[in-house]
Amino acid sequence: MDLTTSNIRILAIESSCDDTAASVIVDNKICSNIVAGQLVHQKYGGVVPELASRNHQQHIVTVVQEALKKAETSTEQLSAVAFTKGPGLLGSLMVGSSFAKSLALALEIPLIGVNHLQAHVFAHFIDEPYPQFPFMCLLVSGGHTQLILVQEDFSMRIIGETLDDAAGEAFDKCAKILGLPYPGGPELDKLAGYGDPNIFQFPKSNVGGLDFSFSGLKTSVLYFIRDQIKQDPDFVQKNLSNLCAAIQHNIVSALLMKLEKACSEFGIVHAGIAGGVSANSELRKRLQMWGTKKGVQTYIPDFAYCTDNAAMIARAARHLYDQRIYEPLSTAPSARMNE
Ligand code: KG4
Ligand code: ZN
Repeated sequence: MDLTTSNIRILAIESSCDDTAASVIVDNKICSNIVAGQLVHQKYGGVVPELASRNHQQHIVTVVQEALKKAETSTEQLSAVAFTKGPGLLGSLMVGSSFAKSLALALEIPLIGVNHLQAHVFAHFIDEPYPQFPFMCLLVSGGHTQLILVQEDFSMRIIGETLDDAAGEAFDKCAKILGLPYPGGPELDKLAGYGDPNIFQFPKSNVGGLDFSFSGLKTSVLYFIRDQIKQDPDFVQKNLSNLCAAIQHNIVSALLMKLEKACSEFGIVHAGIAGGVSANSELRKRLQMWGTKKGVQTYIPDFAYCTDNAAMIARAARHLYDQRIYEPLSTAPSARMNE
């Protein structure tokens, strides 16, 4: 990657869901990556949009200050300010975008709007070794599941996606059925490590082509648990780790099956995972094993760059900065990026 080393400093802000995050990238080096999570949603079992935007309002100033301080950067040194333009929760996006716009206006520096999903892919281009092109990226987050074919100029083509629930949503919804705290994905991953994935079996999703479907899994888990607890009210407690292992195995198998199909259809030998679910231990392990077996070079981002973070926004922003792709101050975020 040929990034000029001319002391270009970009501050990036991410606020698309329930994490308030800020990062400073200097040339191609991430100098700070600060994330403030929001525990307030736990008691509701999911993100409450109104509370998320209120909490972004409360956190954003200190998070940005901390990111600048850690990177030993003053606002006067900034070359540009970047923000997540979408997709995401509109109220949350508006906090980050308004903050970034005010800063760009006050400092008279360019404003850069970043697509959150593309930024997850850019997480692969923070630390070397960078993937080679063409690169097949399986993006698995709480809101999206996409197979993205990335070319050398960073053009991204979505060649497959979920028809209903996202992979992270499937983890979270199944975890909720099992009574695990929100967000259920990491909790389910932890418990699955103690379980046997072969005790229980849930139907494999069978949509054609390169698309995914996870809503059937959630329904079959729900009905199965409902039937079992009629006979034994403690069924879930007694079988928790085995249930988690079976659910995780089902989701990871479906993801890898489509990734393999995509790589073989497009003749790709460089593939990776990105997004919150790429922190999943079974997915990381099986991806590597699959790559070794099939002769595909696999890439997995550092944990800090899997779940939502501003370093990936900063890295994507640097790419846009190099092409002088800026936003006008009249810009507004979009809950869906095709609007
Ligand atoms: O990318 P992300 O942080 O936010 C979105 O853009 O959606 O992804 C969050 C999703 C949640 O559904 C969360 O449960 C899931 O990623 N997740 C995991 C793990 N860590 C986070 N799912 C399974 N195993 C994990 N270890
Ligand atoms: Zn995300």
